[in-house]
Amino acid sequence: MNSKEASPYNKNNIKGCGIGLRIDHFDEIEAQKPNIPWFEILSDNYLLEGTLQREFLSHIRNDYPVTFHGVGLSIGSTEPLNMDYLKRLKKLKDEVQPAWISDHLCWTSAHGVVTHDLIPLPYTQDIVKHIVDRILQVQDFLGEQIVIENVSSYLQFKATEMTEWDFTNEVTSRSDCKLLLDVNNIYVSAQNHKFDADEYLVAMPAERVAEIHLAGYEDKGTHLLDTHSRPVTEPVWDLFKKAIEHVGDVPVLIEWDNDIPSLERVIEESTTAHEIQQQILSSNRKTTYGH
Ligand SMILES: [Fe+2]
Repeated sequence: MNSKEASPYNKNNIKGCGIGLRIDHFDEIEAQKPNIPWFEILSDNYLLEGTLQREFLSHIRNDYPVTFHGVGLSIGSTEPLNMDYLKRLKKLKDEVQPAWISDHLCWTSAHGVVTHDLIPLPYTQDIVKHIVDRILQVQDFLGEQIVIENVSSYLQFKATEMTEWDFTNEVTSRSDCKLLLDVNNIYVSAQNHKFDADEYLVAMPAERVAEIHLAGYEDKGTHLLDTHSRPVTEPVWDLFKKAIEHVGDVPVLIEWDNDIPSLERVIEESTTAHEIQQQILSSNRKTTYGH
């Protein structure tokens, strides 16, 4: 096996529309084993050994394919990579064998202080190089390609010298990592910074997209806030349709982290995503065969 590829056995299992695994739903999932194609777990919550969460995860892993999603990599930070964090992550990976490991194109720590906020970056060639070097180090350490997600943002830097989509393209191609395309984040940032979400979307490297995220935001009047506390909105469903046109059949995930509703409601949202995805894919197939 190529050391930079995730296990093909696990990777092949990730299909259709999954949901983010949340503690609120542990008992119900364990008792009912609902029909969910895969779970994305928040890997940072499982790094400590001997915890109940870790034990529950081992049960989940027996029944479902899983992917890892973290915020602790802080790939854009100027501090050295947190090797203690990476060692724990690798140990968890070896134990759970996720299909892939994802984190965000941002920074989450500075001067030893870790924040769970996803802080955006200035989009410059220097930062591209800095992040590419760090992603390459992480990929070497973990022995596989990682998946990097575009974040939503509320501010821009004067130092920025390129668009976010050019920045994302350069980072992913030069580090040869995969992309987690968060459609909601594109919409939120496009509204906040007044750029064209469609232009961003079609500029994304389709062949690198391993996964799509969908979530709900809150409209604060002056800006949209990416709260993951609501159903997916109509404009984001519309952008999602365009995303499927662009990237084809890739796994989709519903993120719901605040005001978490019943498991049934989250599954309903993933079913809607699945139906929309299948509609677009089948109409594309008809168009392809028709010409
Ligand atoms: Fe996301």
